[in-house]
Amino acid sequence: MSQIKSGAPTFLQGTMASDLKSLTNTLTSTASSWHNSPVLSVSQLTPSGLSLLFETAQKMRTLVKEKGGDERLKFKILASVFYEASTRTSCSFQAAMLRLGGKVLHIDAGKSGNTSSSKGESLDDTIRCLECYTDITVLRHPIKGSVPSVALGGGTMKPVINAGDGTGEHPTQALLDMFTIWDELNLSMDGDEKCPLTVVMLGDLKHGRTVHSLAMLLARSANREVVLRYCSPPSLAMPGYVKEYCAGYNGVKQEECIVLTEAVKGADILYVTRVQKERFDTSEAYEAVKGAYVVDNSIMASAPENMRVMHPLPRVDEIATEVDSDPRACYFRQMENGMYVRMAILALVLGCP
Ligand code: NCD
Repeated sequence: MSQIKSGAPTFLQGTMASDLKSLTNTLTSTASSWHNSPVLSVSQLTPSGLSLLFETAQKMRTLVKEKGGDERLKFKILASVFYEASTRTSCSFQAAMLRLGGKVLHIDAGKSGNTSSSKGESLDDTIRCLECYTDITVLRHPIKGSVPSVALGGGTMKPVINAGDGTGEHPTQALLDMFTIWDELNLSMDGDEKCPLTVVMLGDLKHGRTVHSLAMLLARSANREVVLRYCSPPSLAMPGYVKEYCAGYNGVKQEECIVLTEAVKGADILYVTRVQKERFDTSEAYEAVKGAYVVDNSIMASAPENMRVMHPLPRVDEIATEVDSDPRACYFRQMENGMYVRMAILALVLGCP
């Protein structure tokens, strides 16, 4: 079993990579396929699995609006373990658990955080310890591959949900992003009514795990033509491995565009990301590209009238606050959807959909 010390680089290789591959297409429309499954990558989702998730998330939204929640996860405990900063992912998972009657053990495990990693404990041991007390773990860690490695390394017995592994994946964010796209544009799951669907991904596509997961999820669930249009400074381009993955699916067209006013032409979604300061080797390298793109009212004036602006948040300065009151800005609705989608994920994985 691999022993990841916080801060030590690691990559998924050998058996771990094939274990993750063996999970491909395992989350389907059958609720039992979710029960006790880890959620580590969007490659686990089949199109019908996505439909089940969306139907469940819609029910969760109705439940919250009508009654605030229920007790289906009574006596279940979530370990929420974050080695990197988080507002939305951590709080929406916690709120999701509480709204379904469960309880939460939250551990802020960042640099000066409160785990025994400062005493030299491995990540595997920390998670093994926590799952003695809890039923499910939501884990965020700065090292790419670390979360699948812990989940599949053979030491953990309870399901682990990937809340972001460095520059790797952020599958639950992509799921709530897809739910938002589907909800905002009124798409049907089998639908061909919006063809093609054009999604512009803007900003730091190199380091942004949310766009890695979303591009892959859009590609694999494309039962319609999808145009993925990447708009970034050349040094922050979408990684080759993500583009190769997406190119493996029929109906996916990938484009690159440097000029934002050009990129938004004919777009259905403008998905904005921040330049991820913490992932740069030097502050000079960050300074050279920060503020490269800003979405403001003048950009919105040239954008299609039905286009939606999304952002996983937090934003720095890449969307001017003047855009917030534009009805096409849906990042606050997207954020709210996060709780419903995460309620659905917790309920499905804990066997109480
Ligand atoms: C993102 C993340 O952590 O990857 N935020 C989120 O989960 N909502 C995006 C970011 O940090 O820029």
